[in-house]
Amino acid sequence: MNELLLCSPNKEHEKQALEYMQEHFSVGELVLHGASLLEKTDTYDDWLIHLEKTNNPQTTDPNWVTASTFFAVERVDKKIVGIIDIRHYLNDFLKGYGGHIGYGVRPSERRKGYATEILRLGLEYCNTINLTHIMLACYKDNTASVKTIVNNGGKFEKEFEYTDGKTVQVYWITL
Ligand SMILES: CC(C)(COP(=O)(O)OP(=O)(O)OC[C@H]1O[C@@H](n2cnc3c(N)ncnc32)[C@H](O)[C@@H]1OP(=O)(O)O)[C@@H](O)C(=O)NCCC(=O)NCCS
Repeated sequence: MNELLLCSPNKEHEKQALEYMQEHFSVGELVLHGASLLEKTDTYDDWLIHLEKTNNPQTTDPNWVTASTFFAVERVDKKIVGIIDIRHYLNDFLKGYGGHIGYGVRPSERRKGYATEILRLGLEYCNTINLTHIMLACYKDNTASVKTIVNNGGKFEKEFEYTDGKTVQVYWITL
């Protein structure tokens, strides 16, 4: 595993970001976790505008919550390995399912410990914004995500059946 840094997405990441997205599509993953709708936004420039608005409490869409999205990049060669989205507070939707943090790792870089490290780095950022009681939710059968959360001190709170019939588990991390 190479050393990672969290970076705010910018124009220089465009080519790599689109490759990152395509890599998910090529294995049939049409939803990108932790990517704040990158895959649903018309252009990369529009996505950067969306991130900037969402990161500022003054301009956050009333239906969204203020959030910070970061690429996890390799420190030396700057390759994008994953992405993480940190919501600064919860709305009703996020309280029910979603939680404070979403994340993903590109398919070719999985099972190397990166998600565990990305969440660790994300928690360091949480500390800087005084977010110290952090909800994480994932499907019970997403073993990799459950382990990522538990590896970072996640304590199981509850599980329930989601609208799709699958079991969702809720964990909390206290910093
Ligand atoms: C979940 C995800 C982020 C994990 O990324 P990752 O970089 O492979 O995770 P890690 O390498 O840090 O592995 C964490 C643990 O899960 C285990 N693991 C990883 N992939 C696994 C798999 N497919 N099946 C079982 N265990 C797995 C690892 O062995 C490791 O276990 P350990 O701590 O006992 O050593 C990645 O699979 C992903 O992006 N999935 C799609 C998006 C997603 O599900 N995001 C989370 C939504 S809640």
